[in-house]
Amino acid sequence: MDLEELLTDRLAPAFATVAGVPVNPVVRRSGRADFQSDAALALARRLGRPPRDIAAEVLGYAELSDLCSVAEVSGPGFLNLTVADAALAGLVSALAADPRLGVPVAAEPETVVIDYSAPNVAKEMHVGHLRSTVIGDAAARLLEWLGHRVLRANHLGDWGTPFGMLIEHLVDLGEVEAAQELSVGDLDSFYKAARSAFDADEAFRERSRRRVVALQGGDEVTLRLWRLLVEQSERYFMTVYDRLDVTLTEGDFYGESSYNDRLAPVVDDLGRLGLLRESDGASCVFPPGSVGRDGEPLPLIVRKSDGGYGYPATDLAAIRHRTGTLGATRLLYVVGLPQRRHFEMVYAVAAQAGWLSPPARAEHVGFGSILGADGRMLRSRAGGSVKLVGLLEEAISRATTLTRERNPELDEAEAAEVGRAVGIGAIKYADLSSDRHRDYVLDWERMLSLDGNTAPYLQYAYSRIRSIFRRAGVAARPDAAVSLVEPAERALAFELVGFGRVVGEVAENLEFHHLAGYLYRLAAAFSAFYERCPVLRADEPVRDSRLVLCDLTARVLRQGLHLLGIRTPERM
Ligand code: ARG
Repeated sequence: MDLEELLTDRLAPAFATVAGVPVNPVVRRSGRADFQSDAALALARRLGRPPRDIAAEVLGYAELSDLCSVAEVSGPGFLNLTVADAALAGLVSALAADPRLGVPVAAEPETVVIDYSAPNVAKEMHVGHLRSTVIGDAAARLLEWLGHRVLRANHLGDWGTPFGMLIEHLVDLGEVEAAQELSVGDLDSFYKAARSAFDADEAFRERSRRRVVALQGGDEVTLRLWRLLVEQSERYFMTVYDRLDVTLTEGDFYGESSYNDRLAPVVDDLGRLGLLRESDGASCVFPPGSVGRDGEPLPLIVRKSDGGYGYPATDLAAIRHRTGTLGATRLLYVVGLPQRRHFEMVYAVAAQAGWLSPPARAEHVGFGSILGADGRMLRSRAGGSVKLVGLLEEAISRATTLTRERNPELDEAEAAEVGRAVGIGAIKYADLSSDRHRDYVLDWERMLSLDGNTAPYLQYAYSRIRSIFRRAGVAARPDAAVSLVEPAERALAFELVGFGRVVGEVAENLEFHHLAGYLYRLAAAFSAFYERCPVLRADEPVRDSRLVLCDLTARVLRQGLHLLGIRTPERM
């Protein structure tokens, strides 16, 4: 239990006694003391009494003596609380003994499906897929650590009309040649060549159309060629995931095609439920609440006028599968904000059809774009979309160069290992440390800097603590007595005991910048502590107590970064 909760538990009954009704004391960190509660001010209006009187009366009832060294009324009626050193030390000791670092396993574990990454076959992953992959993977790591059953759904775009043209291009290139091009990640040139043949050549267009029909009709030869496209693309995507150090596996690909047999039943059932309306020959559902700019109701097209099914029908079938067959109660969709409307409508229709009813719920974990230094959408020098692997290679090579400069004592292999951890860490952290709803600017200098809210800063803080133990040739003794005297020690302790709270909040809102910001504050508090409080040079028992603080900081940094998918080298 964290301090906010402990203090709330003590103040709430006292407030209730004074008010005669339950009151939330709203305990928060304070600039004036350690914590404060302003609840007496709001209550004053309701009770028609001076807030200071109420606050004083609450203090009379509240049992705080073991937790607080000072509890006083201040200003117009704030309650200022100073936590007793011994109480804080007790919490730190408990944390040190806890392998979960104050983060309890979820009381009610659930099955969570996380739909993320989701690139498209024979098409280069773009930076939007990078964001989805990085954020989705952090969500998977976090929720799994909390004890939930996490199913990673890599909703691969492996179906649709472009496959006619892609297969024909494959035929023209020759299978061996095409496989080669795709497996090394030349997806863009493959796709573009197919597209230009399609645009330029009527005969090619006609072949492509016939190929789509053959594909949909289950023609064996066509299916074999299609599988080749899918397999080579999957192989390539796996190399990107490997570089990126994400937890997605081959087994996590759930192609859109895998829902094909369930699309007709989905539409039939929507019809049976009376939810379908024909509009321009297409079958549509008009979910309540979805209106366009002009106030006209917006349709979700579940079957096109040519009888084909598209993106919306597939997502409906996927929801039905995820809640019905997989038993998931939480569905997360880590997809860019431009698709927000699509998901709102899909969720609304699924709810109407009874495929998404409480406790099951779906959340769009949306995100903005990555911008270049010019503040515009990230583009390559040639003006095309930026190739993801290129970006990752650049991050690794820049970080490796910096690592060699900063640490000439590391051997080649170690420098490469650290460079990779720092480069990939920097990319991920730049993403996860900014509010995901916003766009952010990809700025190499900043994200690789050892100062500021960056991965290298946190990784460095971690390795610095590890070096304290290396230098001293001692291991941490988590059971050593903790005493907190210096303000810098107390400040660090407050950060440490706050880990569980942050993790709990982020598990709800999936706003990883709060976890990143927390780790940054923790590292900064450690820095201030380390500057002011000698550790190895201190006498016992202070030395051992401070070593507990050092070790706990390292453990929390390591676990926190691990949840973000970022490695923590032992030295750098
Ligand atoms: N493949 C899609 C894209 O590249 C993303 C799919 C997102 N997931 C979903 N269930 N619709 O934009």
